[in-house]
Amino acid sequence: MLNDSLLPKHAQLRAALLRTIDEELQPGAMIPSERDLTVRYDVSRATVRAAISSLVNEGRLTTVPGRGTVVTRPRVESNLHLASFTQDMRQRGHRPSTEVLACAVVTAGEVTAKALGLTPGDRLWEIERLRLADDEPMAHEISWYPEAVFPALGDEDLNGSIYAVLESTYGVVITDAHQTTWAEQAGPTYAHLLEVAETAPVMAFDRVGSSSEGPVEQTISRYRGDRYQLSMGLQRGPSAR
Ligand code: GLP
Repeated sequence: MLNDSLLPKHAQLRAALLRTIDEELQPGAMIPSERDLTVRYDVSRATVRAAISSLVNEGRLTTVPGRGTVVTRPRVESNLHLASFTQDMRQRGHRPSTEVLACAVVTAGEVTAKALGLTPGDRLWEIERLRLADDEPMAHEISWYPEAVFPALGDEDLNGSIYAVLESTYGVVITDAHQTTWAEQAGPTYAHLLEVAETAPVMAFDRVGSSSEGPVEQTISRYRGDRYQLSMGLQRGPSAR
């Protein structure tokens, strides 16, 4: 029964239906019929319709013609955003190449240690690379990988995909990442490397990549704003109302 007199009936019913969806029904399952709901909650058909249509608008329920209303199935998430530079460029029809600018063992500072679940002072490979597409600079990347996980990473050929090296040499597959993006001006250092004006925009990404064992990579990438664009699928989250 609905008994919160401060809320309109359809909002109370909506909340009750959300609880049923979250606690009792599987994705794809039918919700009870309009008639059942009017009887169960002692409300009018108009109230039932308003509550259902609000959940359909929100993406929690889906109306299937000829069948009724079912709990929405979660979408399959595209992994495109987790592509390596090499895959990303190939998918876009460009020829990737790489110049290794520096590769050395360093000790972790606080920020990277925290991101990778390490202790400041732990040893990391620091690898700085210029990434090119069709022989023109596309991005500058500086990455850190724990030496304990990848002991001889610096001896590998880092002119191709580092993700491919992590997988083939160490059996480590990056399956998840947390990425933060922002915009900035190239400034003198990146203007020189990326062959753009100092005031040119670059898109920066800070990615912490994890395998099934936890975080194993932090990379800060700076992509040329005039050559790179990002597209992503967006989905409405729970209503803020
Ligand atoms: C992208 C990501 C980086 C990642 C790199 C790996 O550029 N932003 O975080 O390190 O791909 O690319 P690859 O495997 O081609 O070296």
